Amino acid sequence: MSCAEVTSCNERPCEIEVVGLSRSFGKTVAVDRIDFRVGRGELFAFLGPNGAGKTTTINMLTGLLKPDNGKVLYHGELFDPKRLTVKQLIGVVPQHNNLDPELTAAENLLIHGRLFGMRGKQLQERIATCLNFADLTAKRDIQAGKLSGGMKRKLVIARALLHHPEVLFLDEPTVGLDPHSRRKMWAFLRRINQEQNCTVFLTTHYIEEADTLADRVLIIDQAKLVTGGTPEQLKAAVGNYVLDIYNEEEIQNEFFQTRPAALQRLEQLDTSVRIRETTLEDVFLKLTGKRIEP
Ligand SMILES: Nc1ncnc2c1ncn2[C@@H]1O[C@H](COP(=O)(O)OP(=O)(O)OP(=O)(O)O)[C@@H](O)[C@H]1O
Ligand SMILES: [Mg+2]
Repeated sequence: MSCAEVTSCNERPCEIEVVGLSRSFGKTVAVDRIDFRVGRGELFAFLGPNGAGKTTTINMLTGLLKPDNGKVLYHGELFDPKRLTVKQLIGVVPQHNNLDPELTAAENLLIHGRLFGMRGKQLQERIATCLNFADLTAKRDIQAGKLSGGMKRKLVIARALLHHPEVLFLDEPTVGLDPHSRRKMWAFLRRINQEQNCTVFLTTHYIEEADTLADRVLIIDQAKLVTGGTPEQLKAAVGNYVLDIYNEEEIQNEFFQTRPAALQRLEQLDTSVRIRETTLEDVFLKLTGKRIEP
């Protein structure tokens, strides 16, 4: 891997540092010696196809899984999942909702708060604040199992925010949501990042999610990091404009730094051609030879 941006913190104080992190399951190498840093306050997306190693990585960053090798540091200190102070620092939204469907929205938060040592009026106020922030006040006494998919997802996020974490981890926050709910969730995650002053680390296999939402994107494929940087940097590295050249059986791509350069090339071609801006899907395809989204 060559991209210097992968290991920088985008000029912010370093919140998380990952060095040589690896994990295998039997003969399957799920995460293979990855290094990166996340800056304080960044909205950071870990983008990759199914089975790339995203959940395994997030599980090691949040203490759910032990690495075979390598280390994780928060604010320069080695991560010890048993220490309460670091547990207080992070909030986790797992890939699959793990609410208690029989309990109400408020009760789900109450149990979480107690686990974090919150009690009494302070806990009740915080539950009200988090439900309100997630636009779920009207649903506080509804059983979690009876909420819509988007509401359940928001409730899991509200629960993760309850103890004022500094870093919020979300594993595939919008999987299973329809396009409209997905866009609403993006706005919600932006608000968490900006209004709650939370560093946000999310995994996704949706190109558009990483592209529109993230300050910085790290691309992972087959357990290894492919590249990283801001969406603009990643696109500029392959060329900001692309020609889709329609041949008999396939579409060929040619990349150009500027639109005039792409247009000049287009005029030389006598086949069917389309000019468009480069996407992160093009970046992934160029670097790995595959598509992310099936
Ligand atoms: N508990 C486990 N036991 C055995 N293999 C596992 C286990 N967890 C993950 N793997 C394997 O490790 C690899 C990475 O899996 P991981 O869940 O981290 O991928 P992912 O990027 O989160 O994929 P998805 O987008 O489907 O959630 C896969 O080959 C997977 O089959
Ligand atoms: Mg996963």
